[in-house]
Amino acid sequence: MDERLQEYGQEQLLRFYNELSKDDQKKLLDDIASIDFEKMKRLYDNREIATLEARNITFVPFVDKEDIAKNEKEEFEQLGAELIKKGELAICSMAGGQGTRLGFDGPKGTYILNLEKQKSIFEILVDKLKEAYQIYGTYITWYIMTSKANDMPTKKFFEENSFFGYPKEYIIFFQQGELPLLDLEGKMILEEKNKVYKAADGNGGIFEALCENHILDDMKNKNISYLCIGNVDNILIKQVDALLLGMMKKKNYDLASKSIVKKSPTEKVGVFCKINGQPSVIEYIDLSETQAEERNEEGELLFGEAYFGCCIFSRKLLEKIGEKKLPFHAAKKKNKYLGENGELVVPTEPNTYKFEAFIFDGFKMADDILIMRVKRKEEFAPIKNKEGEDSPDTARKLYMNYYFPNIPV
Ligand code: UTP
Repeated sequence: MDERLQEYGQEQLLRFYNELSKDDQKKLLDDIASIDFEKMKRLYDNREIATLEARNITFVPFVDKEDIAKNEKEEFEQLGAELIKKGELAICSMAGGQGTRLGFDGPKGTYILNLEKQKSIFEILVDKLKEAYQIYGTYITWYIMTSKANDMPTKKFFEENSFFGYPKEYIIFFQQGELPLLDLEGKMILEEKNKVYKAADGNGGIFEALCENHILDDMKNKNISYLCIGNVDNILIKQVDALLLGMMKKKNYDLASKSIVKKSPTEKVGVFCKINGQPSVIEYIDLSETQAEERNEEGELLFGEAYFGCCIFSRKLLEKIGEKKLPFHAAKKKNKYLGENGELVVPTEPNTYKFEAFIFDGFKMADDILIMRVKRKEEFAPIKNKEGEDSPDTARKLYMNYYFPNIPV
């Protein structure tokens, strides 16, 4: 073990080894043994290299929900409703994020907001499923992706709240993978004396996690053909959407996503495009100024359809993506860790690299994508930051304006 650590310059992981009990020593050694040091070295060495080398970025068409003809809309909605009634749609919440910007001590889904009553994010999501039951008479299966770090508290929260009255056999948890955090010099750090600091491997970890945890098998056994995957932190998310589902089925797409209009050329959101002919999302940072400013004949931004974390995959496509490896992106994040003398170090600046796969890198494996533009104020109220933009306060206002427009907020 020592040699391996030396070879990769990671001996600091054994800093407290001699102080530990036999049990804890074993825990630490097992933890270290599970690390792929070569992979971590490669990720660190390549951390600044853009994963999108030779890129030909082109516009991708979309459908504005507002412009769909009435008869077509009815047809799609009916088709979608039939699929939902037959149980062919399940939803999945990606709830494995660390939520570092929110700085809340617990899984993000357990965050409680002061709405028409005190409600957690998870309860808000359950409300939507209960509403769907009223409409379609079907209990929709809800898969919840947790991380190793937040799995236990997430499950405990559901138990304590009696699954918010939703039949618990329709709520299935599964865990995503994790990778060690690296400090800015590429050293691994300790979370505890007997534990290497690891974090979830990004929302793109979902594809591998769906396979490894046999969720795709579970879907197959239950005859679920479509999975709507969404961010847990959008309290206006609409994952049970008969219109989008029906349109996707009718037009034979394996991937459909919603978009909202990018507010301005400088808004920090990823937008839909095609990269080398494949459906994709490009992050604001990777779009040149000219591309970000480019407009079509109607004066709208050419790359103006923002991705906000709500997309439907066919099971077939998920199986295909699950077999492939997605690239990892390095993000600098603030993480508390155990210092040289065993003290807790609380950084004031980002001090670690977290390696994350992104769900939209999986889009490239679809032949094409159906994008439906929806209204921001109807479907998007994210909780990202502690205060200011995209915070609990702004999300609360958006939620109340949408559901209770007559109550002043
Ligand atoms: P974000 O990229 O906004 O990350 O996640 P985050 O963890 O919530 O917050 P920060 O960046 O640390 O402040 C978008 C969605 O992807 C999920 C999140 O839970 C959220 O629903 N996610 C993110 C995962 O499920 N796993 C991950 O490893 C990362």
